[in-house]
Amino acid sequence: MKILVTGATGTVGREIVKQLAEGGHHVRALSRNPGRARFPEGVEAVAGDLAAPEAFAAAFEGVEALHLINFGGDDYAPLQTGEQIVALARQAGVRRITVLLGGSSTPLDAAVAAGGIGWTFLQPVEFMANHLEWAASIRDEGVVREPFCDRLSAVVHEADIAAVAVAALTQDGHAGKKYTLTGPEVLSVRQKIELLAAAAGREIQLVELTEQQARERWAAAGFSPEAIEFFVEIYGNTPKIGYTVVPTVAQVTGRPARTFAQWAREHAAAFAAQRAA
Ligand SMILES: NC(=O)c1ccc[n+]([C@@H]2O[C@H](COP(=O)([O-])OP(=O)(O)OC[C@H]3O[C@@H](n4cnc5c(N)ncnc54)[C@H](OP(=O)(O)O)[C@@H]3O)[C@@H](O)[C@H]2O)c1
Repeated sequence: MKILVTGATGTVGREIVKQLAEGGHHVRALSRNPGRARFPEGVEAVAGDLAAPEAFAAAFEGVEALHLINFGGDDYAPLQTGEQIVALARQAGVRRITVLLGGSSTPLDAAVAAGGIGWTFLQPVEFMANHLEWAASIRDEGVVREPFCDRLSAVVHEADIAAVAVAALTQDGHAGKKYTLTGPEVLSVRQKIELLAAAAGREIQLVELTEQQARERWAAAGFSPEAIEFFVEIYGNTPKIGYTVVPTVAQVTGRPARTFAQWAREHAAAFAAQRAA
């Protein structure tokens, strides 16, 4: 089965590519810079920008299933080319489409829903991979500086988001479903830090920032005012979906959702203390 994966170098996309390739599927992986991408052996890398889908129309040839992201560019702006992408998919005879959703709906989601091809929408809560943002300060100083430290999250492992995508791309029974995807437990920032400390075998100090300090740090890091408002809202006033465990990963994949402790063990080296030279 030939499957086209967009966002193939991303946190979720590269896991989808890996799992499909391991499952023996013929994967076409789209990137704006395929020369820079490192895909598993046997994966066919194709060049293309989702903002100009006609330019990579040939990549749709023979494709039966398609995984889509709904943003384009490094500012994560909503893609406006959903209708063209869906038209190319229809012409090629694509039978299944998965879409990785973000916080709000986009024109691409609407085009897919109206496009007459079996679709599955994937709505993950917070990715476990986001915690790699703490790696440098943990490695260098043994410290995490965060606001809203009591906030709760049902964090989901990116490999589980991918596993659900792979099921929906390769098996019947998932068309017309919107899957909320969570991990198996609800954790606070403090609990996540304890699990990271245990996995990395070191102490980690948590310094709680005020909202104002967090705003200043995000601004200094170059985030836009809109992005900062989004962070304050999502961290300070997390919607219930973000901290409510649902059984979808286990139901769809037949395996329990991966825990944050497992993710922390997989990434322990990124958080381990640096050895003195
Ligand atoms: N992080 C979270 O906690 C979280 C939670 C829920 C939902 N989400 C959603 O998940 C999505 C982020 O996914 P991710 O983390 O897997 O992405 P990511 O790691 O940031 O990767 C971005 C991907 O998009 C591709 N891309 C960007 N613009 C492109 C374009 N114009 N044409 C073709 N490819 C393009 C990049 O490919 P190249 O650079 O190789 O071209 C790359 O593979 C967002 O929609 C976000 O809202 C995130």
